[in-house]
Amino acid sequence: MNTNLHIVILAAGKGTRMYSKLPKVLHQIGGQPMVERVIDTAQSLNPASISVIIGHGKELVLEQVKRNVNWVEQTEQLGTGHAVKMALPHLPADGRTLVLYGDVPLIDQSTLEALLEAAGNEVGLLTDVPEDPTGLGRIIRKDGKVVAIVEEKDANAEQKAVREINTGILVLPNAKLEGWLNSLSSNNAQGEYYLTDLIALANADGINVHPVQVAASYMAAGVNNKLQLAELERIFQNNQAEALLKAGVTLRDPARFDLRGSLQHGQDVVIDVNCVFEGTVVLGDNVQIGANCVIKNATIAEGTVVQPFSHFEGCEVGKNAAIGPFARLRPNARLSDEVHIGNFVEVKNTVMGVGSKANHLTYLGDAEIGSKTNIGAGTITCNYDGANKHKTVIGDNVFIGSGSMIVAPVSISRGATTGAGSVITKDCPEDTLVLARARQTIIEGWIRPKKEDKNKA
Ligand code: UD1
Ligand code: CA
Repeated sequence: MNTNLHIVILAAGKGTRMYSKLPKVLHQIGGQPMVERVIDTAQSLNPASISVIIGHGKELVLEQVKRNVNWVEQTEQLGTGHAVKMALPHLPADGRTLVLYGDVPLIDQSTLEALLEAAGNEVGLLTDVPEDPTGLGRIIRKDGKVVAIVEEKDANAEQKAVREINTGILVLPNAKLEGWLNSLSSNNAQGEYYLTDLIALANADGINVHPVQVAASYMAAGVNNKLQLAELERIFQNNQAEALLKAGVTLRDPARFDLRGSLQHGQDVVIDVNCVFEGTVVLGDNVQIGANCVIKNATIAEGTVVQPFSHFEGCEVGKNAAIGPFARLRPNARLSDEVHIGNFVEVKNTVMGVGSKANHLTYLGDAEIGSKTNIGAGTITCNYDGANKHKTVIGDNVFIGSGSMIVAPVSISRGATTGAGSVITKDCPEDTLVLARARQTIIEGWIRPKKEDKNKA
């Protein structure tokens, strides 16, 4: 543990320009609330404490962000300096404090490590030189030394012309912090207690400010509206796609790839366009994913081919299986090697043995199916009686005729065959043919009723 490092994350603001009921920091990048991402990055530095300042929508933040940190309430948003002050009880005098922002989601561990390194026991300030500095605090230098930050709203023309800006992220020595925060005034254009005024106070105290410039602007970019959220999401997705390409995954188009979680992969994995991966996904060697698939919390073993428009959630697929197009694998579908699941087949809480097939228009729910069994088109396991779910057990090498309704609880033993259109309500013994449908009736010489001819006199 980094015993003298403490981290404060500011996340009390409302985010008016998001036009949302959700507090700003809960909006997601890569499927994860922004503030949770920042907490995880903070955690990677192994600090002695993390304090998150919350205010607007704090109940929702506490409900949705399950992280073990000091949650500190700021009841009135009186400025960034005031926000950090709320955390003082958690900041022992012998340490130092790194300030992060809940709405700056893509800050990374190595940038922060460089900042901490540069700061030493003095002040470290993360800076940027963006294309357009409008709205941001400008960095004022004197003889090359950083001496102050001036907010845009308080800046004169000469100061506004400065392109070097304050990202907001900084490191401060705790021994000085309380005194500096207590001497802040809100005598400025916004009537707020500015954290940025600490830079001038440090200079007055003879403490140096060590600037570190971010490697790329997006790392310190804040989100104030949905446009900026979408821009950062795309950058985040591009970075992930690039990393996967470099690791040998074939992405047919990296611009049409979304990963909201983690993707573990083998060799020669091919992913076609417009796929979305969520949660924890594992793809074995030679797995191919067709276009437009959504895959969430799933493991797909080597050699399996998934055709377009398939949907996976909470399931496992074995080796060399063939899934889709238009397949739906729901939670706890567990398919063994070489299983075939075809179009418009839904599988939920069902185990299927090696080489079994359900190729068309079928619902398999709460079932245990052996190996080398064929499920005919249009089969339904009738697992729900309106109150309870019941189990269907189907053995190895069973042949289920098309359009069979299998009314659970029921079991169909190894080698049995059900005739097409059967409604199976009783157990079927091994190696039998079971017909459970009305017998066909033939009426010879049948004359079809005819319409009367209205024009006849
Ligand atoms: C701040 C900096 C500015 C910098 C910019 C970078 C100050 C005074 N200015 O400006 O120099 O260029 O960030 O994006 O610090 N917050 C609280 N409580 C408060 C006020 C703010 O938690 O009382 C949180 C907000 O939710 C937000 C962050 O602090 O996440 C920044 O506050 P904001 O008011 O947006 O500061 P800026 O005007 O953007
Ligand atoms: Ca801001």
